[in-house]
Parts: sequence; structure tokens; C-alpha cells
Amino acid sequence: MKAITVMNRKGGVGKTTIALHLAACAAEMGLKTLLVDMDSQCNATTIVTRKVRKSSDLDIAVTDLWDEDSEMEFRKYDDFNFFILPGSEHAVAVPGQGTVNPEGMREARMAMDRLREFSFDLIVFDVPPAPGVLQLAPMLLGGVLVIPVIPDTLAVQGMVGAIRDRQMVLNSGVPLDMTILINKYKMTSANQSRMIEMLRKTVHKDSVLPEVFTDRVLAPDALREGKAVWQYAPRDPGASVWRRVCVRIVENLLNKEVEGGEDQEG
Ligand SMILES: Nc1ncnc2c1ncn2[C@@H]1O[C@H](COP(=O)(O)OP(=O)(O)O)[C@@H](O)[C@H]1O
Ligand SMILES: [Mg+2]
Repeated sequence: MKAITVMNRKGGVGKTTIALHLAACAAEMGLKTLLVDMDSQCNATTIVTRKVRKSSDLDIAVTDLWDEDSEMEFRKYDDFNFFILPGSEHAVAVPGQGTVNPEGMREARMAMDRLREFSFDLIVFDVPPAPGVLQLAPMLLGGVLVIPVIPDTLAVQGMVGAIRDRQMVLNSGVPLDMTILINKYKMTSANQSRMIEMLRKTVHKDSVLPEVFTDRVLAPDALREGKAVWQYAPRDPGASVWRRVCVRIVENLLNKEVEGGEDQEG
């Protein structure tokens, strides 16, 4: 089982949109894929289930991972080809979400480890912007941290927070790769162009992907139809950039497994 955590401490940078596309892409590549909605705002859940629901309307939710006695059962919805573990508005109440503490981390780690019991090839985590165990715990499964960032100061600040969290995970001995993905680039903005140039010069420049996702309604439009952008607009050059990037992130993660040769599951 491999994990991708999509995280930035800033909201609105495209975490949910990119997590959904990564899950759709991996499933298309033939991987048994689960998307876990860690965000109590449940945006990913709403998009996949196509309805605004309370968690009580769904059979299971992410918070069930914290309850050892709960029966976990995963399902797909409509056109989306991956499984989803729906979010819950009660997720904010899991131990350690308000203030991270050792006991909260321990429980969250156990909750994440429960996901190893199932036969998923890949699990994609869509996490909330608010710091807490819901953001940190998925990273402890290793794999890759994908940080979407809009070329603006606040989003870059959120990215720096995410990089710091990743360092903490590395310090605890868990290998976690990092990919920085520039999203919502407005090509007419000189300010944003400057910001991108700057991102390509920082110490983390090697983690910044060469491709950039531009600011277009394509992504929200596609998701509203239950599709990834490349399924929605197969001839659109912008859509093929989304696919290329998602394929590369997933492939890099799988290749690592071969190189490392230390994955004992499956
Ligand atoms: N490349 C893009 N171009 C235009 N709109 C986008 C793009 N990526 C995301 N969005 C839109 O921006 C908003 C925030 O994206 P979302 O994925 O929900 O961010 P987050 O999960 O980080 O809060 C949503 O309305 C989404 O449809
Ligand atoms: Mg989100």
C-alpha cells in the first residue's frame, strides 16, 4: 500500500481538486485506489457523492477509523472509478485536532494504520488546511507529500508550513518524498509570474514540478460532471498536462517501491 498526502496549510489552493484527479488517474492506471477525505468540510465527499450530505446519511466516515470496533466498508460512487472513505463534520473532534499532543498523534497513527488491513494499492489523502493530526497523521504512512501552491504570498506561506511538517516526519524516520505543484496560475499576472520564478530559485526548487496548472474553469466543470479534466475534455492541451502530472506522481511513487524493495505487503 502506497500513500499520497495532498497538503498545504492554506485553503483554496486546489488540494481537493488535485487529490480527486490523482485518485482518478491512479484508478485509470489499474490501481485499486482509495480517496480518504480528512477535511471536516467534506468537499471531496460532496463532489464524489454529488450531494451535500451529513455524515449520518452515509454508512461510514473517516472518523470510524478512530473506532476499533467499527466495520469498514468502502464503495464507489457514480462515474468516479476509485473508492472513497467519506469525510465527517465530526472529524474536528478527533483527539489532537485542536492541539496536537502525543496521545492524539498515537491514536491518529493507529487510525491510519487500520487502512493497511485493506487491499488498496494506493490511498490518496485530502487533508484540511487547519493544522492538527488530520493533516499530520497521513504523512506518517510515508509515500509522497504533494503540495499544491498558488503563486501568492499566503499560499507560499502555507507551503512553507507543509515543508516544515514534512521535515518533522522525516526526522521521525519515515521516508516521505515531496512534490510542489503550482496551481491556478493566471498567465496575465506579472506578479504571479515573478512568484513562480522565485519558487524555482528556492532551496526546494528540485521539488517544484516543471508543469504549471493554469487558472481555468476546466477543473471545477469536469468534477461537476463526475470526471477528471482529461476525461471531460480529452482534446484540451491543458487537460493533458493534468494527466501527465498525475501519471508522473503516481509512477514515481510505484517505481520507488521497486527500487526500495522493502515493501513487504501485498
Ligand atoms: N486550476 C484551477 N483553475 C480554476 N479553478 C480551480 C483550479 N484548481 C482548483 N480550482 C477551484 O478553486 C477552488 C478551491 O479548490 P479546492 O480544490 O477546493 O482547494 P482546497 O482543497 O485547497 O481548499 C474550487 O472552487 C476549485 O474548483
Ligand atoms: Mg479541500
